[in-house]
Amino acid sequence: MSAARLPGTVVAVTGGARGIGCSIAEHLRDAGARVVLGDIDTAAVAATGSRLGAAAALALDVTDPASFADFLAKAETAAGPVDVLINNAGIMPVGRFTGESDTITRRILEVNVLGVMNGTKAALPQMLSRGRGHIVNIASLAGENPTPGMATYCASKQAVLGFTEAMRLECRGSGVHFSAVLPTFTRTELIAGTKAPMGLLAEPEDVARAVTRLIARPRRRVTVTRAAGVAMAFNKLTPRAFGEFTARRMGVHRIFTDEVDRAARADYDRRVGNTPEG
Ligand SMILES: NC(=O)c1ccc[n+]([C@@H]2O[C@H](COP(=O)([O-])OP(=O)(O)OC[C@H]3O[C@@H](n4cnc5c(N)ncnc54)[C@H](O)[C@@H]3O)[C@@H](O)[C@H]2O)c1
Repeated sequence: MSAARLPGTVVAVTGGARGIGCSIAEHLRDAGARVVLGDIDTAAVAATGSRLGAAAALALDVTDPASFADFLAKAETAAGPVDVLINNAGIMPVGRFTGESDTITRRILEVNVLGVMNGTKAALPQMLSRGRGHIVNIASLAGENPTPGMATYCASKQAVLGFTEAMRLECRGSGVHFSAVLPTFTRTELIAGTKAPMGLLAEPEDVARAVTRLIARPRRRVTVTRAAGVAMAFNKLTPRAFGEFTARRMGVHRIFTDEVDRAARADYDRRVGNTPEG
């Protein structure tokens, strides 16, 4: 549990059925916030919502602007005007780009990038008219560390970082804050069947604590874990060739290409539509 207190703050969390979104919702609830969950997995979000005692648990497809508008309207009815929107829903199919179907390339960009933009378009006008609000976008360290085997995902998260920063500047002085959260690999179904570098692995609770603190005290950007953030900052200071050499020695170029355990990842791939049928 985070020490931050957010009594009565209304927070809408996308992709809240499981993983990082679920943990964020739990920590925010413990901090006194009224939390509304949205997810494309309606059965899972309903179960998570009742387990957490959420103000509402709703169907949401972040790729569909009408669905997002409906989600926010219902969130307001259930809990009051939305103070904070957490754009957390995201997918990460992995493998060599040449083997990625057109459908899944488009899907990654639709969920990870357009999903964030749709949410911002839907939530921002009301926040601006109230003169306060906070949009928190869950990006990734992968947005700053291009990694073989996740080219489209890296591109999507880099897009989220650029979008968040531009919106932060565009809304400066309006009372509406924009923040990007950059988690390292985090123990959820999203990394199933991969050998994500253990030394850099975070727990969903680490991200949730950071987000809870971030809402209490808005900042431009937060990296989770601190150690991963320090490693990234150090990497930026060293010559590129050294960084690439070290990454290859660690076998990073194989982790999300040749060394993926497809059987262990089958459930995740099915859930996000990464199947031969697309
Ligand atoms: N797990 C990691 O290693 C890691 C690291 C850095 C960033 N992230 C980011 O954190 C966020 C959450 O990831 P996670 O690890 O909890 O994944 P997860 O798969 O455990 O949960 C993601 C949730 O998003 C939902 N979702 C997917 N598409 C949706 C859509 N179109 N509309 C609404 N909901 C949708 C899923 O149903 C699922 O419940 C993602 O944006 C991810 O890119 C994860």
